[in-house]
Amino acid sequence: MKSLMFESYGNSSVLKIVEENIPIPAKNEVLLKVKAAGINPLDWKIRNGDLKIMTGNKFPKYLGCEFSGIVEKQGNDITDNIVGKRIFGYMPNTMAPGAMREYICVPRSNVAVIPNSVSFEEAAGVIITCTAAHQAITELAQAKAGQSILINGCSGGLGLFALQIAKNLQLKITGTASGDGIAIAKEFGCPTVIDYKKTDVLVSNEKYDIILELSGRMPFSQAKKIMQDKSVFINPSPDLGSIIFSIFHNLFSGKKIKLLMTKYSQEKLNLLIDLMNKNLKIKVNKIYPFSEVIKAYQETEIKSPIGKNIIKFD
Ligand SMILES: NC(=O)c1ccc[n+]([C@@H]2O[C@H](COP(=O)([O-])OP(=O)(O)OC[C@H]3O[C@@H](n4cnc5c(N)ncnc54)[C@H](OP(=O)(O)O)[C@@H]3O)[C@@H](O)[C@H]2O)c1
Repeated sequence: MKSLMFESYGNSSVLKIVEENIPIPAKNEVLLKVKAAGINPLDWKIRNGDLKIMTGNKFPKYLGCEFSGIVEKQGNDITDNIVGKRIFGYMPNTMAPGAMREYICVPRSNVAVIPNSVSFEEAAGVIITCTAAHQAITELAQAKAGQSILINGCSGGLGLFALQIAKNLQLKITGTASGDGIAIAKEFGCPTVIDYKKTDVLVSNEKYDIILELSGRMPFSQAKKIMQDKSVFINPSPDLGSIIFSIFHNLFSGKKIKLLMTKYSQEKLNLLIDLMNKNLKIKVNKIYPFSEVIKAYQETEIKSPIGKNIIKFD
């Protein structure tokens, strides 16, 4: 089978497609033929070595945290018959993932059956970012109807799900986007979209209860100008410095910094199924064949997708 791997940290030129043996499932695992896998910024943060403190220096390493596929075999300890089912799920260790390959083995608890109305490509694009959006808004911000939220970078993988979750909670939403992302953000429930290439959202009289910062370009030191006295700033890409800073900062300020470290579980997959059954919209921006996976990473790193970029397997 074909598998995407790398043997040293670096840009996309370190990526290689290699031949490997099809794995054998352990007693609690399923073997699935992968049909689609989602691309996430986490993938190139791992590949670049930005997260070396967690990912270490042991190679080869693999990419891809979320997938969909068809179960080919199941381990003896699995009690329900799941062979032949269309499933989606997440890799057990998001810091040492590996969904970008033709076959994978994962624990039964990491997968769930895809609703009939949802395609493999859509299912592979919902797991990491929709779960993250849900955790950010409901658990970290504990958002309540009527509160105001700024979603900075609302047309990307996480942003389009955040818009729908915020709308369901009846939040007063403002989003930032650019180009074609502006119209899509409106279509996904954002009544006020600021074109960040024309207007600086920081130069505004508006003050928000919640800021969900998805662009990687608005640090808390800037965002605090447009926060209420008691409000929440969500950082989805915490590093050691921001972890230490937030602990001390939060002791003395009403403007809280919350760090997003999403937890994935069977319950979260069930939540996604529930949302999909209630017409959650999943925007697939572009589908690449697995043979073009390296090009897909190059393009996605240069330009954020509107929604998700997905790799499709034969
Ligand atoms: N902690 C966790 O558990 C977790 C889970 C998932 C994701 N994340 C993180 O969350 C972040 C967002 O993820 P994503 O998948 O949504 O990424 P993405 O698809 O690349 O989206 C980023 C968005 O930021 C926008 N943007 C770029 N420059 C901007 C600026 N100057 N002002 C405002 N918006 C700007 C982009 O818009 P354009 O289209 O105009 O460029 C795009 O919509 C990433 O850092 C990711 O690693 C964390």
